Amino acid sequence: MSGYDLIVIGGGPGGYVASIRAAQLGMKTACIDERATLGGTCLNVGCIPSKALLMSSEKFDDARSQLAQHGVDVGSVELNLAAMMTRKDKVVGDLTKGIDFLLKKNGVERIIGRASIEAPGRVFVVGANGDLTLEANAIIIATGSMPITLPGIEFDEKRIVSSTGALSLETVPDRMVVIGAGVIGLELGQVWARLGTQVTVVEFLDRILPGIDREIATTAQRALGRRRLKFTLGREVLGVEKGVDELKVVTRQHASGAQESLPADVVLVAVGRRPFTDGLGLDRLGVACDARGFIAVDKQFRTSCTGIYAIGDCVSGPMLAHKAEEDGVACVEMMAGGNEHPDYENVPSVVYTSPEIASVGPTEDNLRARGVDIAVGKFNFMANCRARLGGETEGLVKVVAEAASGRILGAHIVGPHASELIAEFVVAIARQATLRDVAGACHPHPSLSEALKEACLAALSRAIHA
Ligand code: NAI
Repeated sequence: MSGYDLIVIGGGPGGYVASIRAAQLGMKTACIDERATLGGTCLNVGCIPSKALLMSSEKFDDARSQLAQHGVDVGSVELNLAAMMTRKDKVVGDLTKGIDFLLKKNGVERIIGRASIEAPGRVFVVGANGDLTLEANAIIIATGSMPITLPGIEFDEKRIVSSTGALSLETVPDRMVVIGAGVIGLELGQVWARLGTQVTVVEFLDRILPGIDREIATTAQRALGRRRLKFTLGREVLGVEKGVDELKVVTRQHASGAQESLPADVVLVAVGRRPFTDGLGLDRLGVACDARGFIAVDKQFRTSCTGIYAIGDCVSGPMLAHKAEEDGVACVEMMAGGNEHPDYENVPSVVYTSPEIASVGPTEDNLRARGVDIAVGKFNFMANCRARLGGETEGLVKVVAEAASGRILGAHIVGPHASELIAEFVVAIARQATLRDVAGACHPHPSLSEALKEACLAALSRAIHA
């Protein structure tokens, strides 16, 4: 038996960050993960490999169809999928090793194995090098989430794939049907569309990206459609028929009830994720969960069981790596006497497609529904010099503020480098900045960030370039 101040179960962005911060605060900390490589879903089979493929496939697409307009003729462009996959794996490998280094540097003990909680303060690990029982004053559950599928559709990760299988296909399929026009469906759908697959995205709702500002989502859909993603909306998937040579995705349109079968070589099911808490022993311990399986926690991340905390994807709030990191830091800082809970309304979300889509805070519709009197400002990238220089003029910036005070409440962007641009609004919202604060600050010219300033000026009815 060994005694720790803190045991963290899960080495993803929530768990490894919580471990590092705890060690920095002087806690004797162990971090347990059953994977041999740290970083959880995000680094191993999520954010990082998917963005690696997005970036590589964008370069392929640029070489094939964008460079010529800049006067760069590259002749015929060939895809080397194996090399693209090897590079992705190397990026993942380097980054996971980096986290190993960070844990060591901060004195966190790393344990590889599958953990369950025997009792508050006691963790049992089925380890790579034998079983262990560990003791700690506090335990954080940071076990993340896993993909869900639809009834009757089972992942084989070859032909019917989750995001994990879609990151490692050995050949470029001719036809792919993506079920779900959410973040994963669009990102991985675009990877394969760029590499030459005919991709059809089937969505249950009448729109893509539920939760994102409707105007931004519609603009994104048009732009993605121009880049070979085909959408079929308002359709329910009834099942997938598995033939020897092809799959058939059987769908039914809500409005008419008409059924249609979509042929495919690969089906990607991207209809969401569920908290992953299997085998932890939560029932036995009496740790309360909500109806969807998320562990119930209070504002200090305490579960219903004394000494057991939970953070990240397995508790409520956006299922995002950066939210999990914020949870992890806040949780251990609160153990050490702090009192700042992350503001879940100010968590940016990004879809790394081309164009990128990024959003923070409530949408215009959402605020109107709440009865908030708002001012809205928009600016199209078409009128932004830097966007024109790069030939990436699709999209817009939309900022939403409280009408009376001008305090910025939300921002929604579709366009080039939206993932980077959104950070300015995240800071603005965190500091309770107003439209005047952003509009009055000198932004570099020519830069995409001028579109943010212009959107704020537009909300103040003072736009210069529109
Ligand atoms: P999602 O919740 O983003 O989207 C699922 C989509 O599937 C929704 O549009 C939903 O309406 C649709 N859907 C549900 N049932 C359906 C059905 N029977 N037929 C057709 N469509 C159906 O889930 P997704 O894309 O699987 O992502 C899971 C989580 O991972 C999300 O919380 C997401 O934020 C996170 N993630 C974040 C990324 C990022 O930040 N860039 C990248 C990848 C995932």
